[in-house]
Amino acid sequence: MTNKYMYFIANWKMFGGLNSLNSLHKVDRFLKNFKKNKSIKLIFCPPSTLIRPMSKKLINSRIEVGSQNCHENEDYGAFTGFVNSKMLKDVGAKYVILGHSENRKCGETNKLINLKVKSALKTGLKVIFCIGETLKEKKRKITNQILSKQIKFGLQKINKKKNILIAYEPVWSIGTGLIPKSKELFTTINFIKKKTKLNVIYGGSVNPKNIHELKSINNIDGFLIGGASQDPKKFIDIIKKTYN
Ligand code: 13P
Repeated sequence: MTNKYMYFIANWKMFGGLNSLNSLHKVDRFLKNFKKNKSIKLIFCPPSTLIRPMSKKLINSRIEVGSQNCHENEDYGAFTGFVNSKMLKDVGAKYVILGHSENRKCGETNKLINLKVKSALKTGLKVIFCIGETLKEKKRKITNQILSKQIKFGLQKINKKKNILIAYEPVWSIGTGLIPKSKELFTTINFIKKKTKLNVIYGGSVNPKNIHELKSINNIDGFLIGGASQDPKKFIDIIKKTYN
């Protein structure tokens, strides 16, 4: 995506039941009263089981709903345990996270992710495309090579990229409390932007304590937030602190 929004995207991962939706109104109320609300996009990606009830709850809200993955087949099929982009759209998802390192770790290849991206875009979902290097790759100083490969093969043969947002998530930063050094992060985000001409957000241990440091890196278009997004207070705090 190339529009000028600041994105705050919550990835709930495999957390949350119906009772977790009770806290959404706090975030919604905050957003409605927030002076910068026109320039921010707030997206919640709950587990698939919560997409429908969450979309219903947010019917009069500017908060949008996304999924955390989808099957690559855009038609129905005999794939036990999976859901495709058409089914996700049907229950209210507007976005889908693809290429998350937790799924790459379970065997998702760049080739498979590419098929998923194509099928999601064809269905009309917007794609949050995750890339990132492992600690080993960082130590070997091959981060840019890894990112280039993930971009090249993951986004292969996709001409219309306007509905894709890149999420740079260093694997070593996810859930560890560690974030990249500011200068390093600025350079990497710049590298990805030059390569893709797309908006780029950052993910990995974003929390109310480190958001001051992260927001000062002025080429970041938003944040993909895991752990801290499950607590509405922390999530709201992150947004507030991005602006002061
Ligand atoms: P944490 O914010 O918990 O590190 O998770 C980041 C992430 O994986 C978001 O997709």
